[in-house]
Amino acid sequence: YMSMKVDIKYPEQEFYATISEVDVKSISDGDFLELRKVVESCGITVIKDQEVNDEEQIAFSERFGELEISIGTNHKRENNPYLKPQISRISNVNIANDKLIPVDDHKVVFDRGNNWWHTDSSFKEIPAKISILSAREIPEEGGGTEFVDARHALETWNSKPRKYSVEQIKDDITEHSIIYSRMQNTGDIFNDQFKKDMPYVRQRLIRTHPYTKRNAFYAGSHCSHIIGWELEEGRELINEINEWIVNSGEIARHKWSNGEIVLWDNRRVLHRGTGYDESKYRRIMHRTTVAGDKPSYEEEVILH
Ligand code: OGA
Ligand code: MN
Repeated sequence: YMSMKVDIKYPEQEFYATISEVDVKSISDGDFLELRKVVESCGITVIKDQEVNDEEQIAFSERFGELEISIGTNHKRENNPYLKPQISRISNVNIANDKLIPVDDHKVVFDRGNNWWHTDSSFKEIPAKISILSAREIPEEGGGTEFVDARHALETWNSKPRKYSVEQIKDDITEHSIIYSRMQNTGDIFNDQFKKDMPYVRQRLIRTHPYTKRNAFYAGSHCSHIIGWELEEGRELINEINEWIVNSGEIARHKWSNGEIVLWDNRRVLHRGTGYDESKYRRIMHRTTVAGDKPSYEEEVILH
């Protein structure tokens, strides 16, 4: 059997695993397969004590598949020639001079948008599979990350009186936009070019996971409206779904330690940052993101 130790914190939801006795830099093919299964069946997986640099993080992440290229903010990637295109740096520290970035700077405001429940890259035509976040420097206070279970939410949706059952909405298509979500949450922070390059994209409201074959809602803060629905009616349902994702099950509250890696499956969970005093503390997180294979609207949904 595998040498890794797996502990599942919320077994009733099969949610939030912690893995130990593994090194992502030298993980065997067998252990990697097992790790991948844990991530896809548990939604979020914490691996403690994994000090990696960007090259090592990319090499490990690429074992899951092709990686996304980071969009940066307004396509500016901190003007840094050393930040690899596969790395999304979520940070209030300027990589070029190692100083704190002012809290009203576009970069810090953009990253603050992560504090609203979302699923990574749902604003891209082909949304992300798995995100891999490495804690390089954590603040003394705050700066946690929280996760909720959109699969549990779907599986318990019909347990309450609803205007729309899962069966009725299983084929609905929504539109997502990062301009829309940031506009709601942090204000208008984008230049015209970025807005042009980031149009609304279509996504399924319900997705069947290709590995577990279980269904989950697919919404979060980038999700604006439902195609073919009256705007307010669609937004009401999206709000109800987002609230149910947050309130129906456990909230996995992750408090970071330095050197930790957390992986989550964006097809199954929503996540958010909890915020911290950006004017006082440094926080450096580097994310790699495993790209999806096709647009979600090309996927098939199978209800059981
Ligand atoms: C992310 C994200 C939240 C955080 O990296 O995708 O949303 O706590 N991060 O940094
Ligand atoms: Mn995110």
